[in-house]
Amino acid sequence: MSSVKSGLMALQRLRGSEREGLGRTALGRTAVVYAVLGVALLLTCLASYYVRRSRRHAEHVGLQLEAANEQLKKATRDVEGANKELEAFSYSVAHDLRAPLRSIDGFSQILLEDHAQGFDEEARDLLGRVQASSRRMALLIDDLLNLSRVTRSVLRHQTVDLSALAREIAAEIQKSRPDREARFVIAEGLVAFGDASLLRVALENLLGNAWKFTSKKEVATIEFGAAPYEGGDVAYYVRDDGAGFDPRYAEKLFGAFQRLHGAEDFEGTGIGLATVARIVHRHGGRVWAEGAVEEGATFFFTLGSGHRQGVPFPSRKAEVL
Ligand SMILES: Nc1ncnc2c1ncn2[C@@H]1O[C@H](COP(=O)(O)OP(=O)(O)O)[C@@H](O)[C@H]1O
Ligand SMILES: [Mg+2]
Repeated sequence: MSSVKSGLMALQRLRGSEREGLGRTALGRTAVVYAVLGVALLLTCLASYYVRRSRRHAEHVGLQLEAANEQLKKATRDVEGANKELEAFSYSVAHDLRAPLRSIDGFSQILLEDHAQGFDEEARDLLGRVQASSRRMALLIDDLLNLSRVTRSVLRHQTVDLSALAREIAAEIQKSRPDREARFVIAEGLVAFGDASLLRVALENLLGNAWKFTSKKEVATIEFGAAPYEGGDVAYYVRDDGAGFDPRYAEKLFGAFQRLHGAEDFEGTGIGLATVARIVHRHGGRVWAEGAVEEGATFFFTLGSGHRQGVPFPSRKAEVL
């Protein structure tokens, strides 16, 4: 009997301890749940803090970017304004210099024609030099005015038949010295999208240079063509087999007044290629030169992305003038 009693008591103890254990486990689970919730809450707080912080940072960076953008826009407007002013200034200076120059030229002409007997040989020679200098200066002024016009004029894009333009210019140039044995080889079907009058000025300069720098050769060939360029684009070129130039200075040639040949060998003002470069840049293109002394020169130009649309790659057939 006592053994049954003690057995029952043992069972009760066991149940009691089980209940305690169960109770502890439930407590533990609750604690774990709270802990997890706490951590989750903490993480949420942290996350929202960081989100808010990075949002504030992004806003700050955005504001800074906007301010920098505004500053850049203002600087660009200032530079453009200053450029326009400078252009207007150089245009009017060049324009106003023409009148007194014409007077110098005109009065020396009158002296030479109507009062020649009053001058000895040396005086006449000196007057002739005054006249030559004033004419050279007039040429410089005209070139500067052209350069200025090229920058100021509004671009009017249209489809331009460059081959026809080159043929016209070549025929005009040949008239100046029909005795020269120089032939123009002009590729057919070169069509561009750009400003017709500016492209004419560019081609006049490039073909005019080719004509001038081949003038010391008995026989010369001047070529106008096109070659494939990056991104399916076209690079037009004017090539000659004349005096050429030192390729180390190929980039310099496009600066105003930069000349690699002396006036005693080839006349000029050194503004033609600067004008070409401005025209090409205004079209969004590139211009560059290749050459070697006594081995001729090639001047390439592209016309930028506006031009790429809708202009097919030209045929390579060439026409010889
Ligand atoms: N086709 C060419 N062959 C050799 N040199 C050239 C050629 N075109 C231009 N140059 C060089 O580039 C210089 C600048 O050319 P440009 O600006 O047209 O001035 P200009 O024709 O008045 O000399 C020239 O003086 C010459 O030295
Ligand atoms: Mg020139």
